[in-house]
Amino acid sequence: MGSLTGFEKIVRQAEPLAMHTWFQLGGPAEHFAEPRNADELIALVKRCRSEGISVRVLGRGSNLLVRDEGVPGLVVRLSEPAFSEIRVAGNTILAGGGARLGRVVTTAVREGLAGLEVLVAIPGTLGGALHGNAGTHGGDIGQWTAQATVVTHSGDVVTRHREEMVFSYRQSSLDELVILSAKLELEDDDPHELGKRLQKQWIIRKASQPMGHQCAGCVFKNPRGVSAGELIESAGLKGTRIGGAVVSDRHANFIIAEPECTSNDVLRLIDLIRAQVHDRLGVELELELEIW
Ligand code: EPU
Repeated sequence: MGSLTGFEKIVRQAEPLAMHTWFQLGGPAEHFAEPRNADELIALVKRCRSEGISVRVLGRGSNLLVRDEGVPGLVVRLSEPAFSEIRVAGNTILAGGGARLGRVVTTAVREGLAGLEVLVAIPGTLGGALHGNAGTHGGDIGQWTAQATVVTHSGDVVTRHREEMVFSYRQSSLDELVILSAKLELEDDDPHELGKRLQKQWIIRKASQPMGHQCAGCVFKNPRGVSAGELIESAGLKGTRIGGAVVSDRHANFIIAEPECTSNDVLRLIDLIRAQVHDRLGVELELELEIW
């Protein structure tokens, strides 16, 4: 264990990351930790800082492709209950960065708090959603975020208030190492009405996006508000395959990993889509998917 001596209870070596991602592809993390509480997490981050070990935070792996060769350094996952509490007080929700976004959304709806119901069916953790300002055409998480507590790369805990945070399309200023928790300020509404809206959104999403497949979320951002899926379809790329990686027939901004698919297949397909959309339509696609 060398430089991570003293953390044996929570750190594992050469942990396969494929099983921690929706794509179920990619190699191992050199070190992998699931700290049991914030103090343990902070101590680990500080040790890595002093030992020069890089640290990455893994949410639920729904917007992530890990390369076949895996990643050096430490990967941290906030899977323990201490990071996933959800508490409701008046019209605010205080939730841990490791909480599933879906649970935060359903809690809000059940409590008659409006705003988050448009995010139904977005996978991942609250921390991941805040980091990439997850959203749909109906809105994004950033607009409801009043406060976030983060751990910086040096292991300091800092609280960011609404006026210091900037959220834009699939981007947020919360790019510090770990999002420990966030406070969301929502609007009062009728739980029954909210439940109906949530169901409607869920049905639309199910009909327009691949579900139950081995894939992540959308691969590319929508350039200037145009659907990247629509552009990829117009370029004639639905169903295009490289190895086990295929452009979804249902929504062209999704890549499905079939059995025997490797991360390299997905990366090559991403390059091909980018090149063809550029050559045929003159549009430069930017990745939304994170690649490690
Ligand atoms: N369309 C096509 N072909 C396709 C896909 C879409 O013609 O293969 C057309 C649709 O028919 C529709 C338009 O494009 O007219 C928009 O499609 P959709 O409603 O599916 O939305 P999108 O812009 O493609 C965005 C987000 C999704 C989010 C949906 C629903 C991005 C990159 N994508 O997709 O988010 O779920 O809106 O609000 O912003 C994600 O970010 O991972 C993601 C899946």
